[in-house]
Amino acid sequence: MIISLSTLFAPSSKERLTEAVKLRTSCRSYRGAPAIADFSALSYYTSRYALPGARLALLPVDDSFFTGTLLGMKRITGCRMVAAVIISGDEPRARIHAGILGEAFVLEATSLGLGTCWNTGTYRRKNLQTALSANEMVLCVIAVGIPAAPLTAPRTRHRKPPEHFCRGQWREWPEQLLTAAVLVQQAPSAMNMQPWTLYVGAEGAFVVDANERAQLDVGIALCHAELALTIPHTWHFGTERGDPLAWAKVK
Ligand SMILES: Cc1cc2nc3c(=O)[nH]c(=O)nc-3n(C[C@H](O)[C@H](O)[C@H](O)COP(=O)(O)O)c2cc1C
Repeated sequence: MIISLSTLFAPSSKERLTEAVKLRTSCRSYRGAPAIADFSALSYYTSRYALPGARLALLPVDDSFFTGTLLGMKRITGCRMVAAVIISGDEPRARIHAGILGEAFVLEATSLGLGTCWNTGTYRRKNLQTALSANEMVLCVIAVGIPAAPLTAPRTRHRKPPEHFCRGQWREWPEQLLTAAVLVQQAPSAMNMQPWTLYVGAEGAFVVDANERAQLDVGIALCHAELALTIPHTWHFGTERGDPLAWAKVK
Protein backbone atom coordinates (compact mmCIF):
# COMPACT_ATOMS: atom_id res chain seq x y z
CA MET A 1 0.00 0.00 0.00
CA ILE A 2 1.41 3.40 -1.08
CA ILE A 3 0.00 6.87 -0.43
CA SER A 4 1.12 10.42 -1.12
CA LEU A 5 0.14 12.98 1.51
CA SER A 6 1.07 16.03 -0.59
CA THR A 7 -2.59 16.78 -1.37
CA LEU A 8 -3.53 16.59 2.32
CA PHE A 9 -0.64 18.75 3.54
CA ALA A 10 0.09 21.72 1.26
CA PRO A 11 3.42 23.51 2.00
CA SER A 12 1.61 26.53 3.53
CA SER A 13 -0.49 24.34 5.82
CA LYS A 14 2.64 22.41 6.87
CA GLU A 15 4.13 25.63 8.31
CA ARG A 16 0.93 26.38 10.23
CA LEU A 17 0.61 22.84 11.56
CA THR A 18 4.29 22.81 12.58
CA GLU A 19 3.58 25.90 14.72
CA ALA A 20 0.58 24.04 16.19
CA VAL A 21 2.86 21.12 17.21
CA LYS A 22 4.68 23.52 19.58
CA LEU A 23 1.41 24.62 21.24
CA ARG A 24 -0.44 21.28 21.42
CA THR A 25 -0.79 19.47 24.73
CA SER A 26 -3.62 17.21 25.88
CA CYS A 27 -6.40 19.47 27.19
CA ARG A 28 -8.67 17.97 29.88
CA SER A 29 -10.65 21.10 31.00
CA TYR A 30 -13.00 22.77 28.52
CA ARG A 31 -15.49 25.66 28.44
CA GLY A 32 -17.87 24.04 25.97
CA ALA A 33 -18.14 23.37 22.25
CA PRO A 34 -16.34 25.40 19.56
CA ALA A 35 -18.15 28.55 18.36
CA ILE A 36 -19.94 28.29 15.02
CA ALA A 37 -17.07 29.57 12.82
CA ASP A 38 -14.64 27.10 14.38
CA PHE A 39 -17.24 24.34 14.17
CA SER A 40 -17.58 25.05 10.43
CA ALA A 41 -13.80 24.86 10.02
CA LEU A 42 -13.67 21.57 11.95
CA SER A 43 -16.51 20.16 9.82
CA TYR A 44 -14.49 21.05 6.74
CA TYR A 45 -11.39 19.30 8.18
CA THR A 46 -13.35 16.13 8.97
CA SER A 47 -14.24 15.90 5.26
CA ARG A 48 -10.83 17.02 4.03
CA TYR A 49 -8.84 14.55 6.10
CA ALA A 50 -9.91 11.11 4.87
CA LEU A 51 -7.74 8.16 3.82
CA PRO A 52 -8.66 4.59 2.79
CA GLY A 53 -10.42 2.84 5.66
CA ALA A 54 -10.41 5.79 8.06
CA ARG A 55 -12.66 8.79 8.62
CA LEU A 56 -13.65 11.30 11.31
CA ALA A 57 -17.14 12.32 12.47
CA LEU A 58 -18.01 15.24 14.80
CA LEU A 59 -20.45 14.20 17.53
CA PRO A 60 -22.00 15.95 20.55
CA VAL A 61 -21.28 14.58 24.06
CA ASP A 62 -22.20 15.58 27.61
CA ASP A 63 -20.25 15.59 30.86
CA SER A 64 -21.10 11.95 31.63
CA PHE A 65 -19.27 10.81 28.49
CA PHE A 66 -15.72 10.82 29.89
CA THR A 67 -14.85 8.44 32.68
CA GLY A 68 -12.30 8.37 35.51
CA THR A 69 -8.61 8.67 35.28
CA LEU A 70 -5.94 6.40 33.88
CA LEU A 71 -2.67 6.48 35.81
CA GLY A 72 -3.63 9.66 37.65
CA MET A 73 -4.58 11.66 34.52
CA LYS A 74 -7.38 14.18 35.09
CA ARG A 75 -10.89 13.28 33.90
CA ILE A 76 -11.97 15.37 30.90
CA THR A 77 -14.59 17.96 31.93
CA GLY A 78 -16.64 20.66 30.16
CA CYS A 79 -16.19 19.03 26.74
CA ARG A 80 -19.30 19.04 24.50
CA MET A 81 -17.90 17.64 21.25
CA VAL A 82 -15.67 14.84 20.04
CA ALA A 83 -14.31 13.73 16.70
CA ALA A 84 -14.97 10.00 16.51
CA VAL A 85 -12.13 8.21 14.71
CA ILE A 86 -13.81 5.52 12.60
CA ILE A 87 -12.02 2.70 10.79
CA SER A 88 -13.15 0.05 8.37
CA GLY A 89 -12.13 -3.55 8.99
CA ASP A 90 -11.44 -4.12 5.27
CA GLU A 91 -8.37 -1.89 5.14
CA PRO A 92 -5.20 -3.53 6.56
CA ARG A 93 -3.48 -0.27 7.56
CA ALA A 94 -6.63 1.63 8.59
CA ARG A 95 -5.21 2.25 12.09
CA ILE A 96 -2.15 4.02 10.70
CA HIS A 97 -4.36 6.10 8.40
CA ALA A 98 -6.57 6.92 11.41
CA GLY A 99 -3.52 8.20 13.32
CA ILE A 100 -2.53 10.46 10.41
CA LEU A 101 -6.03 11.91 10.01
CA GLY A 102 -6.72 12.27 13.70
CA GLU A 103 -3.47 14.10 14.38
CA ALA A 104 -3.96 16.37 11.34
CA PHE A 105 -7.38 17.23 12.82
CA VAL A 106 -5.79 17.83 16.27
CA LEU A 107 -3.20 20.21 14.80
CA GLU A 108 -5.83 22.08 12.72
CA ALA A 109 -7.96 22.48 15.86
CA THR A 110 -4.89 23.67 17.80
CA SER A 111 -4.18 26.29 15.17
CA LEU A 112 -7.75 27.58 15.73
CA GLY A 113 -6.90 27.98 19.46
CA LEU A 114 -8.99 24.94 20.46
CA GLY A 115 -8.09 22.29 23.02
CA THR A 116 -7.93 18.61 22.07
CA CYS A 117 -7.24 15.25 23.71
CA TRP A 118 -6.92 11.85 22.06
CA ASN A 119 -8.87 9.26 24.01
CA THR A 120 -8.84 5.49 23.57
CA GLY A 121 -9.73 4.42 27.09
CA THR A 122 -11.48 6.94 29.35
CA TYR A 123 -14.89 7.36 27.70
CA ARG A 124 -18.23 5.53 27.45
CA ARG A 125 -18.28 4.00 23.99
CA LYS A 126 -21.97 3.05 24.32
CA ASN A 127 -22.96 6.74 24.68
CA LEU A 128 -21.72 7.57 21.19
CA GLN A 129 -24.52 7.99 18.68
CA THR A 130 -23.30 7.61 15.15
CA ALA A 131 -24.27 5.61 12.09
CA LEU A 132 -21.65 3.03 11.11
CA SER A 133 -21.49 0.71 8.11
CA ALA A 134 -21.43 -3.02 8.85
CA ASN A 135 -17.62 -3.23 8.63
CA GLU A 136 -16.88 0.01 10.55
CA MET A 137 -15.98 0.59 14.19
CA VAL A 138 -15.11 3.57 16.38
CA LEU A 139 -11.41 3.20 17.18
CA CYS A 140 -11.22 6.12 19.61
CA VAL A 141 -12.38 9.71 20.07
CA ILE A 142 -10.68 13.10 20.14
CA ALA A 143 -12.11 15.62 22.61
CA VAL A 144 -12.27 19.08 21.04
CA GLY A 145 -13.53 22.40 22.36
CA ILE A 146 -12.82 25.77 23.91
CA PRO A 147 -9.98 25.21 26.39
CA ALA A 148 -10.61 26.40 29.98
CA ALA A 149 -7.28 28.28 29.76
CA PRO A 150 -5.77 29.66 26.53
CA LEU A 151 -3.28 27.35 24.80
CA THR A 152 0.35 28.00 25.70
CA ALA A 153 3.47 26.08 24.70
CA PRO A 154 4.50 23.81 27.60
CA ARG A 155 7.78 24.71 29.31
CA THR A 156 8.78 21.03 29.34
CA ARG A 157 7.38 17.85 27.81
CA HIS A 158 7.99 14.46 29.31
CA ARG A 159 9.60 12.82 26.31
CA LYS A 160 12.34 10.31 25.50
CA PRO A 161 15.58 11.85 24.15
CA PRO A 162 16.24 11.21 20.42
CA GLU A 163 18.89 8.54 21.12
CA HIS A 164 16.08 6.39 22.57
CA PHE A 165 14.01 6.32 19.40
CA CYS A 166 16.42 7.19 16.53
CA ARG A 167 18.61 4.35 15.29
CA GLY A 168 21.94 4.34 13.42
CA GLN A 169 24.00 7.44 12.63
CA TRP A 170 21.03 9.74 13.34
CA ARG A 171 23.21 12.74 14.32
CA GLU A 172 24.40 12.81 10.69
CA TRP A 173 20.92 12.73 9.13
CA PRO A 174 20.02 15.51 6.66
CA GLU A 175 18.39 18.49 8.35
CA GLN A 176 14.82 17.63 7.37
CA LEU A 177 15.08 14.17 8.95
CA LEU A 178 16.45 15.72 12.16
CA THR A 179 13.52 18.15 12.12
CA ALA A 180 11.17 15.20 11.56
CA ALA A 181 12.66 13.50 14.63
CA VAL A 182 12.12 16.62 16.76
CA LEU A 183 8.50 16.84 15.58
CA VAL A 184 7.91 13.12 16.28
CA GLN A 185 9.38 13.58 19.74
CA GLN A 186 6.64 16.14 20.51
CA ALA A 187 3.81 13.93 19.25
CA PRO A 188 1.18 12.57 21.65
CA SER A 189 0.95 8.81 22.20
CA ALA A 190 -1.24 6.46 24.23
CA MET A 191 -0.08 6.65 27.87
CA ASN A 192 2.85 8.71 26.59
CA MET A 193 4.64 5.47 25.65
CA GLN A 194 6.28 7.01 22.54
CA PRO A 195 6.56 3.50 21.08
CA TRP A 196 8.11 4.48 17.76
CA THR A 197 11.55 3.98 16.23
CA LEU A 198 12.96 6.12 13.40
CA TYR A 199 15.78 5.04 11.11
CA VAL A 200 17.12 5.29 7.57
CA GLY A 201 16.59 1.92 5.91
CA ALA A 202 17.22 0.34 2.49
CA GLU A 203 17.52 2.76 -0.47
CA GLY A 204 17.49 5.75 1.91
CA ALA A 205 13.89 5.18 3.03
CA PHE A 206 12.91 7.06 6.21
CA VAL A 207 11.29 4.44 8.43
CA VAL A 208 8.71 5.04 11.18
CA ASP A 209 8.22 1.72 12.95
CA ALA A 210 6.77 0.28 16.15
CA ASN A 211 5.10 -2.82 17.45
CA GLU A 212 2.06 -3.89 15.37
CA ARG A 213 -0.22 -2.94 18.33
CA ALA A 214 0.94 0.69 18.15
CA GLN A 215 -0.29 1.43 14.61
CA LEU A 216 -2.39 4.40 15.73
CA ASP A 217 0.64 5.97 17.43
CA VAL A 218 2.72 5.31 14.30
CA GLY A 219 0.13 7.21 12.22
CA ILE A 220 0.36 10.13 14.66
CA ALA A 221 4.18 10.10 14.48
CA LEU A 222 4.04 9.83 10.68
CA CYS A 223 1.78 12.92 10.54
CA HIS A 224 4.39 14.89 12.52
CA ALA A 225 7.28 13.55 10.37
CA GLU A 226 5.40 14.46 7.18
CA LEU A 227 5.37 18.13 8.25
CA ALA A 228 9.19 18.22 7.99
CA LEU A 229 9.61 16.39 4.66
CA THR A 230 10.03 18.77 1.75
CA ILE A 231 11.48 16.47 -0.94
CA PRO A 232 8.78 14.70 -3.04
CA HIS A 233 8.13 11.29 -1.47
CA THR A 234 5.52 8.61 -1.03
CA TRP A 235 4.59 6.71 2.14
CA HIS A 236 4.67 2.92 2.06
CA PHE A 237 3.04 0.59 4.56
CA GLY A 238 4.38 -2.86 5.34
CA THR A 239 2.11 -5.78 4.61
CA GLU A 240 4.58 -8.68 4.78
CA ARG A 241 5.88 -10.25 7.98
CA GLY A 242 9.13 -8.51 8.98
CA ASP A 243 8.31 -5.29 7.08
CA PRO A 244 8.44 -2.07 9.10
CA LEU A 245 5.03 -0.42 9.58
CA ALA A 246 5.74 2.66 7.44
CA TRP A 247 8.49 4.31 5.43
CA ALA A 248 8.86 7.38 3.23
CA LYS A 249 10.64 6.87 -0.09
CA VAL A 250 11.94 9.70 -2.27
CA LYS A 251 10.05 9.75 -5.60
C1 LIG B 1 -3.76 7.12 20.92
C2 LIG B 1 -3.85 7.92 22.21
C3 LIG B 1 -4.74 7.52 23.21
C4 LIG B 1 -4.88 8.29 24.37
N1 LIG B 1 -5.82 7.92 25.30
C5 LIG B 1 -6.03 8.71 26.39
C6 LIG B 1 -7.07 8.39 27.31
O1 LIG B 1 -7.77 7.38 27.17
N2 LIG B 1 -7.29 9.23 28.35
C7 LIG B 1 -6.54 10.36 28.53
O2 LIG B 1 -6.79 11.11 29.50
N3 LIG B 1 -5.50 10.68 27.67
C8 LIG B 1 -5.25 9.90 26.61
N4 LIG B 1 -4.24 10.21 25.71
C9 LIG B 1 -3.39 11.39 25.92
C10 LIG B 1 -1.95 10.96 26.31
O3 LIG B 1 -1.94 10.54 27.66
C11 LIG B 1 -0.99 12.14 26.07
O4 LIG B 1 -0.94 12.39 24.69
C12 LIG B 1 0.42 11.87 26.56
O5 LIG B 1 0.43 11.70 27.95
C13 LIG B 1 1.37 13.00 26.18
O6 LIG B 1 0.94 14.21 26.74
P1 LIG B 1 0.60 15.48 25.82
O7 LIG B 1 -0.47 15.04 24.85
O8 LIG B 1 0.09 16.53 26.77
O9 LIG B 1 1.85 15.90 25.09
C14 LIG B 1 -4.08 9.46 24.55
C15 LIG B 1 -3.18 9.83 23.54
C16 LIG B 1 -3.07 9.09 22.38
C17 LIG B 1 -2.16 9.56 21.31
